[in-house]
Amino acid sequence: MSSSSVKDTQTLDKNGQEIKSVGFQRFGFDSEVSLDTLRSLYLRSHYVVSVSESQVQELDAKEEEGRGYLTQGPNAYQSKSIFHPDTQSISYTTLSRFAPVKLLPPSSRKRVLVTGGAGFVGSHLVDRLMLLGHEVTVLDNFFTGSKTYLRHDVVEPFMIECDQIYHLACPASPPHYQFNAVKTIKTSFIGTLNMLGLAKRTKARFLISSTSEVYGDPEVHPQPEDYWGHVNPIGPRACYDEGKRVAETLTYGFHHQDGVDVRVARIFNTYVNPHDGRVVSNFIVQALRGEDMTSRPVNIGNGDEFTIGEFAELVREIVEKVQEEDGIKPARRVQIVYKPIPTDDPQKRRPDTTRAKNSLGWQPRWSVRMGLEEMVRYYKAKMAEGSM
Ligand SMILES: NC(=O)c1ccc[n+]([C@@H]2O[C@H](COP(=O)([O-])OP(=O)(O)OC[C@H]3O[C@@H](n4cnc5c(N)ncnc54)[C@H](O)[C@@H]3O)[C@@H](O)[C@H]2O)c1
Repeated sequence: MSSSSVKDTQTLDKNGQEIKSVGFQRFGFDSEVSLDTLRSLYLRSHYVVSVSESQVQELDAKEEEGRGYLTQGPNAYQSKSIFHPDTQSISYTTLSRFAPVKLLPPSSRKRVLVTGGAGFVGSHLVDRLMLLGHEVTVLDNFFTGSKTYLRHDVVEPFMIECDQIYHLACPASPPHYQFNAVKTIKTSFIGTLNMLGLAKRTKARFLISSTSEVYGDPEVHPQPEDYWGHVNPIGPRACYDEGKRVAETLTYGFHHQDGVDVRVARIFNTYVNPHDGRVVSNFIVQALRGEDMTSRPVNIGNGDEFTIGEFAELVREIVEKVQEEDGIKPARRVQIVYKPIPTDDPQKRRPDTTRAKNSLGWQPRWSVRMGLEEMVRYYKAKMAEGSM
């Protein structure tokens, strides 16, 4: 039986300053959450303790004592299994507790609707909005998401009173969005139309999560927001790329015609969930499992730019570092295997983030290396839990 816990990890930003929290005191509200709290929520590796029957109650009572505080350190929200040597059985909790949420006073509390809130980006957004004290309703058809919220397909109309809509519903990784291409474009087109109609009726502020895929396989590098893109309208990626393009067109249509207050966030590749199927998650999962990393000769974007080959090297190095810290010695070194590029896969992309810096004062604080390290620990915790 082993007992592992989340280690305290010092995280330095691109300038070598320690990052202790994420979020900001900005735009009239505080969205700052300490990194320890977030880590304790997401890096909760499943651990097993071996105790006799008489000690179980003592253990539970000890854990109850600290209940309700966000300052308990990194192990507070871990799930655990208890091994009972007397009966040779294991009892387990999937998650021992949730972080407490506050409720803001009505004057500052927002009624927020999040579509696609069971997905990777959405579920983190929902956690954050709830930690901040807002009232959150989630719509999701569970195509790729996995939590129990309000099951609803955004292709069908939906009515609710709300102040803000975060419209994220859409399959986002190529295997998911290519599974049913017609449904993907319907989700982007009709789903966005429905949500914009709702925003217009309720006068809610509307944010859509768009994507770097609107630039397609770009001829301009890095890509500023006023670059119109280079997309194949009938290729295998078109259902997603063109779907998001039409969703943006609709969004600005409602803004100009009906005065809807809109925001469009064009997200580049994020640190995604382990089952996502894109390069960032594939590499980490392959390296953690000791499988060879299948790579293609193209560059990937973000402030820190790497070729796919360099990126595979980096993932391997970080996985080896984390494994060494945990005292794990893999049987062999994973190899990097080069394969042909899939149809219409963009050759290279990197965001030009000048506008975000100038208008929002936003710049990525995490280096890709630090982000990947966090992601490797998260995936490792998921593997230890048995959930991947
Ligand atoms: N993660 C990234 O790197 C990235 C990059 C660019 C853009 N985005 C955009 O951000 C959003 C969220 O991405 P993610 O990575 O969290 O994806 P995800 O697949 O984890 O989440 C998408 C969610 O939308 C739900 N959904 C799909 N179709 C739906 C429908 N018709 N009705 C209701 N719910 C539906 C899915 O069940 C899932 O829970 C997407 O709009 C995506 O296009 C993500």
